[in-house]
Amino acid sequence: MSSDTRCLVAGNWKMNGLLDEAMAYVRELRENPAPEHVEIALMPPFTLLYPMSKPLSEKNVRLGAQSVYFEEKGAFTGSISPMMLRDAGCHYVILGHSERRDIIHEDNALILKKLQASWKAGLEPILCIGEHLEEREAGRTNEVLREQLSILEGVEGDKPLTVAYEPVWAIGTGKTATPEQVVETHAFVHEELARLGRDCRVLYGGSVNPGNAEALMACEGVEGALVGGASLKADSFMQIVEAAARAVG
Ligand code: 13P
Repeated sequence: MSSDTRCLVAGNWKMNGLLDEAMAYVRELRENPAPEHVEIALMPPFTLLYPMSKPLSEKNVRLGAQSVYFEEKGAFTGSISPMMLRDAGCHYVILGHSERRDIIHEDNALILKKLQASWKAGLEPILCIGEHLEEREAGRTNEVLREQLSILEGVEGDKPLTVAYEPVWAIGTGKTATPEQVVETHAFVHEELARLGRDCRVLYGGSVNPGNAEALMACEGVEGALVGGASLKADSFMQIVEAAARAVG
């Protein structure tokens, strides 16, 4: 995996996975599972970060966390700091996932603090953005995405960042955006990022599976996938990685 590898396939396990299952999963991965031009990362729950760190790094798979708190340390019961994630072997941290925006009510101000704290600790954030169905139907998709990306306004442009476009209506529903919607929306996201002085890769997420991954990854402006449910089994996750390799190859 080289740092100029643009395509990333990342598995967000959400609140799934126990130690035995995780170890069996890692054993199922090939010695060097990433095909040329594709980088692989896994985001298991916090409890599995440290135990998975070494076996994954031996297989050239990067590790990430699903969230973080912005403070460095102290009396913040139940929270995990960016440096703790580094200590556990993380390279990435997911921020702004719609499940945290909607269920835990994380807003832009909090996400910005987490972004800054993550950079300070040397993590690469994967910033998730996406519209709800009502917003898409009301023709407000671009407005919503612009507002979510506005936290990058005035923020240092040289820090590592990956963006993941995940339409909320496509997450865990089995519905994916059509290739036309993906191309159009990714073009808008890249345009907005350029306006904000950033050239970063943009992943697609939302019901990506082995059957639709190649067509989605082949869309203009898509540089990888953030995979939820289909990343829980090593076999289907690797099929998505291979589909991405065919699409970018
Ligand atoms: P699903 O692939 O299960 O739809 O989840 C997508 C997601 O939220 C990844 O972060």
